[in-house]
Amino acid sequence: MSQKYYYITSPIYYVNDKPHIGHFYTTLACDVIARFKRLDGYKVIFSTGTDEHGQKIEQKAKSLDLSPQQMVDDLSQYFAELFKNMNFTNDIFMRTTNKDHIKNIEYIWQQLEAKGFIYKGSYEGYYSVSDEAFYTESELITKNGNLVAASSGSLVEKIQEESYFFSLSKFQDKLLEYYSKNPDFIAPKSRYNEVVSFVKSGLKDLSVSRIRITWGIKVPSDPSHVIYVWLDALSNYLSALGDLSENSANFKNYWPADLHMIGKDILRFHAVYWPAFLMALDLPLPKKIFAHGWWTNEGEKISKSKGNIIDPVPVVEKYGIDEFKYFLLKEIPFGNDGDYSEESLINRINNELANDYGNLCQRSLSIIIKNFNGKLVKPSNFNQSEQNLLEISGNNLLNMCRNYIDKQDFSNYIENIWSIIRDLNSYINKTAPWTLIKNNNLADANNVLYVIIEVLRRISILLAPVMPISTNNILNQLNCDEEVRSFTSINTPLNEYNVVAPSPVFTKHVNEKIIQP
Ligand code: MSP
Repeated sequence: MSQKYYYITSPIYYVNDKPHIGHFYTTLACDVIARFKRLDGYKVIFSTGTDEHGQKIEQKAKSLDLSPQQMVDDLSQYFAELFKNMNFTNDIFMRTTNKDHIKNIEYIWQQLEAKGFIYKGSYEGYYSVSDEAFYTESELITKNGNLVAASSGSLVEKIQEESYFFSLSKFQDKLLEYYSKNPDFIAPKSRYNEVVSFVKSGLKDLSVSRIRITWGIKVPSDPSHVIYVWLDALSNYLSALGDLSENSANFKNYWPADLHMIGKDILRFHAVYWPAFLMALDLPLPKKIFAHGWWTNEGEKISKSKGNIIDPVPVVEKYGIDEFKYFLLKEIPFGNDGDYSEESLINRINNELANDYGNLCQRSLSIIIKNFNGKLVKPSNFNQSEQNLLEISGNNLLNMCRNYIDKQDFSNYIENIWSIIRDLNSYINKTAPWTLIKNNNLADANNVLYVIIEVLRRISILLAPVMPISTNNILNQLNCDEEVRSFTSINTPLNEYNVVAPSPVFTKHVNEKIIQP
């Protein structure tokens, strides 16, 4: 079979502050998909990184009395380390201050210029430093006496300056045609509709250079201008694959990207500007853009001024990395907004992870160790309910999981697996292997426990993309070799098990608020 490739990207993050739940969430979503695809036989590139140029970074460095370079070096390192510590498996960590990326951006600019899509003019309008975005008057509202962007609530300032423009307006019809021919290009559907109506309302040419700032990549033919940070940042998705002027192997295998995972606030840049840039460059468009929702904190919008930013580090220190990942993906349908609450996190850990899953492993393994010296053999015949359990947890389940992963539907992906965990719990309670043992019916007890362990093996393999540490731990306790931790092994019951003494994988918590957000 020919090799399958998969390229997934997270946004690259502004390094004007430390990472928070939002950065963690987007990267997590990518990580789960990347891990799933690797297990499913794909060669994967998962790229993430940091967005290091622009006025926002320049201003922040100034306020800290640091050079921008110093600040971005420090913070970028912090992001890279956090991702490693959180066990994310990004293959690439892009930095836009990297010289190969800068070379690519210069090349892109020259291409756009040579193809006649760049011209010099003057920009008069509004700019939000916080969003690094241009707004027209109709997109603004007044809030507490200040002009802010209606979509983000960010302050804007009026600017009038010489600028280079990209002929975005030329792409309006092409974009609309593309959206209508590719209804899955933007997900969820509500976001697709939002983009289509924005483009239908008319596209103006886009200012793509700034003269009042210096922290950026200079326009090659006119170094008094720096290239607009979003043109620089979006192109990182190409730079992650190598030098654009050469048609590298990575580029041939991995472009167009399979999925750009983003948050809903940066949809317009990805679903309008980016495809137009790519069309102008005669490059194929990414296959899909998924815009997820935003988290609030205990019902409140997260903001620096409110001081309620959720730092993932203390949360995972207290509750565990996998536990937090599980919570974020299970708590809300992916694509919707969600509310973080410590109470809800604790409930999920206690009820779903510790009780449903962890405790089932614990109690089954303890019985096996105590009564079978850890050893179980595959029954020569399975009764109807055993057969059912094996059937629903084999390739059927794998296919359903694949389907949900391809729809970026994490909550149903997990729920699907959980319904089998619940079935297993009913099954152990109904068959009561402890009673079978007491009555000296060791053969039936072996069969019941075998099926439970076999299904737990499959479920743990399928949950590994979400909870790699805990599932690895469980598969170690089941004493599974590497080759029976693969997707290809899911449908085939093992001949025997020789499990080891269990130790708890998930810890229960009492509901007291120690971490103040
Ligand atoms: N640098 C740009 C992206 C350039 S990509 C070519 C940027 N960076 S960011 O650091 O501000 O934000 C990155 C991501 O964090 C976005 O996808 C955004 O949606 C996400 N989140 C920020 N706050 C969030 C929440 N409160 N909840 C969920 N995600 C949120 O934008």
